[in-house]
Amino acid sequence: MDNRPIGVFDSGLGGLTGVRELRHLLPGEDIVYFGDTGRVPYGPRGKDTIVQYTRQDIAFLLSKNVKYIMAACGTVSSTYPPEEAAQLPVPFCGVVGATARTAAWATKNRRVGVMGTPATIRSGSYEVLLKQLVPGVEITKQACPMLVPLVENGYIQDGNPVAMLLLQEYLEPMQKAGVDTLILGCTHYPLLKGMIAKIMGDDVTLIDPGKVTAEALKRDLSEKGLLADRANGEAHYFVSDDPDGFISVADLFLGEYRGGPVEQISIEKY
Ligand code: DGL
Repeated sequence: MDNRPIGVFDSGLGGLTGVRELRHLLPGEDIVYFGDTGRVPYGPRGKDTIVQYTRQDIAFLLSKNVKYIMAACGTVSSTYPPEEAAQLPVPFCGVVGATARTAAWATKNRRVGVMGTPATIRSGSYEVLLKQLVPGVEITKQACPMLVPLVENGYIQDGNPVAMLLLQEYLEPMQKAGVDTLILGCTHYPLLKGMIAKIMGDDVTLIDPGKVTAEALKRDLSEKGLLADRANGEAHYFVSDDPDGFISVADLFLGEYRGGPVEQISIEKY
């Protein structure tokens, strides 16, 4: 048993897709969330910058005495060196492993699509794992650099014409390839899930990395004896830019936004 909070971070709002699931699966856990809204997006940046930002994000969460760190970010999960993660004083998980495993179980025709940020697609992280898990798999990849700014600016209402236009363009190769499973390889994309599902149709399984990773994290906490011993936990949110934009979109997305405080911090200090 361990009542310290779980630390979750992302470059911005996308990690809330993991927080929403964690709140649902583990209502007794405290969560400290950091969204690096002052430096979003990470996806178009080079590897060294992403690793440096990740180190600061982790240092901030460790300063909050977290018991576990979830990188609720496909870009960080695809870029941060696993050897470095293994040296951290608390367990660390990214989103790629659980997401790739779920896609491997889901596909019937062995045609899997991967959408992601430019850094995630460039890293080949999903490809490497999927090829190990699904012999003969055919992977269709698509970098979608415009989607993160779209989400961060709140263009997430179903049927939004700008979002629909972009998604149609990005998803066309997936439709042509006949994928039956599509990895939403960036935690921001599930905020656009309704529109993606509409374009891809009911026969395509969409894999939400925040959701499946939260499920895996629950199992891991239980195996490690780290679950909290209380009925209701709290969420605290930290951002590196003005909290106002974050609050309005977070409210829209989390629905029953739990009224957890949102504080601005200076991430450069970490
Ligand atoms: N939500 C993130 C991801 O999963 C980061 C997006 C970005 O900052 O570019 O990749």
